[in-house]
Amino acid sequence: MKCKVCREPAVIDIRRHNANFCGDHFLKLVRDQTQKAIDEFKMFAPGERILVAVSGGKDSLALWDILLELGYEANGLYIGLGIGGYSDRSGDQVRAFAAERGLKLEQIELRDQYGYDVPTAAAVTKRVPCSACGLSKRHLFDKAALQGGYDAVATGHNLDDEAAVLFGNTLRWQTEYLARQHPVLPARPGFPRKVKPLVRLGEREMAAYCVLRGIDYIVEECPMAVGNKHIGYKEALNAIEATSPGAKQAFYFGFLARAVERFADAAPAYAEAGDTAACTRCGVPTTSEICAFCRLLERTAGAEPVHLTIKGKRVDA
Ligand code: AMP
Ligand code: FES
Ligand code: ZN
Ligand code: ZN
Repeated sequence: MKCKVCREPAVIDIRRHNANFCGDHFLKLVRDQTQKAIDEFKMFAPGERILVAVSGGKDSLALWDILLELGYEANGLYIGLGIGGYSDRSGDQVRAFAAERGLKLEQIELRDQYGYDVPTAAAVTKRVPCSACGLSKRHLFDKAALQGGYDAVATGHNLDDEAAVLFGNTLRWQTEYLARQHPVLPARPGFPRKVKPLVRLGEREMAAYCVLRGIDYIVEECPMAVGNKHIGYKEALNAIEATSPGAKQAFYFGFLARAVERFADAAPAYAEAGDTAACTRCGVPTTSEICAFCRLLERTAGAEPVHLTIKGKRVDA
């Protein structure tokens, strides 16, 4: 197996590109593909300030590293979700990454700053943990970016993530979600621009990038996500990709090129953000009097912290 570029021994094969790469040329490929996504979707320009949401996992830590290597100004944002030992370990990973490289990291602890954590919010709202978790993350990413004067919030969603979400949205024809599934969401009043620069790269490539760059990341997945639909969609797509390399990329980029615009009507609230009012508590634009985040704060206020169990197993240790 030889590198496609220099013919030296290769360390990785990328079947959808039908090519093998040595370490150096693979790192270059990853940076080039990231830059290509940034340019193709006009995510941001040199000189703009980026806030990278970092979870401690491979994708977001690699993204932070890549953006810095590409010469962008990027600070990190970590949100401590209070999911027991998993959150402790992911926070440690992010802090170590930032400290070793002398990077600026903003940190928010849900329990300390907002008086609740994800397991407690899930118990109080009686919904799946990922729902309170996603709501909290979105609200706090937006707030931190606006307060810090950042031009965009970048997340580590990769091709596998986006293809799986697209698969789920398509299976159920969730047209409103389909309309918004784009690697760039432009800024609108009260909300910063949001970008996903890793959409041209897969999970396996991000793991290899971290290994080659010596980036330590948390390998365990969120214990509360175990068994969720998203994981099933990824497995289904992986099975298809195994016999049909490039299928995932064709599915996702074909959707962006030829289908996403057809769903524009399904997300009018997004297109015309004008008919929203400011949340009476926190001021973010919302369609009701109090935004979903402030309602969550109200519901979790004073709630006893819970130990969440999934299928009889405690997941907060
Ligand atoms: P996930 O929803 O866990 O697949 O994560 C998607 C992306 O959201 C990650 O790549 C990060 O950019 C960001 N993210 C997830 N969890 C956190 C967290 N606790 N703090 C900051 N960013 C996060
Ligand atoms: Fe949000 Fe697991 S990361 S519930
Ligand atoms: Zn090479
Ligand atoms: Zn609010």
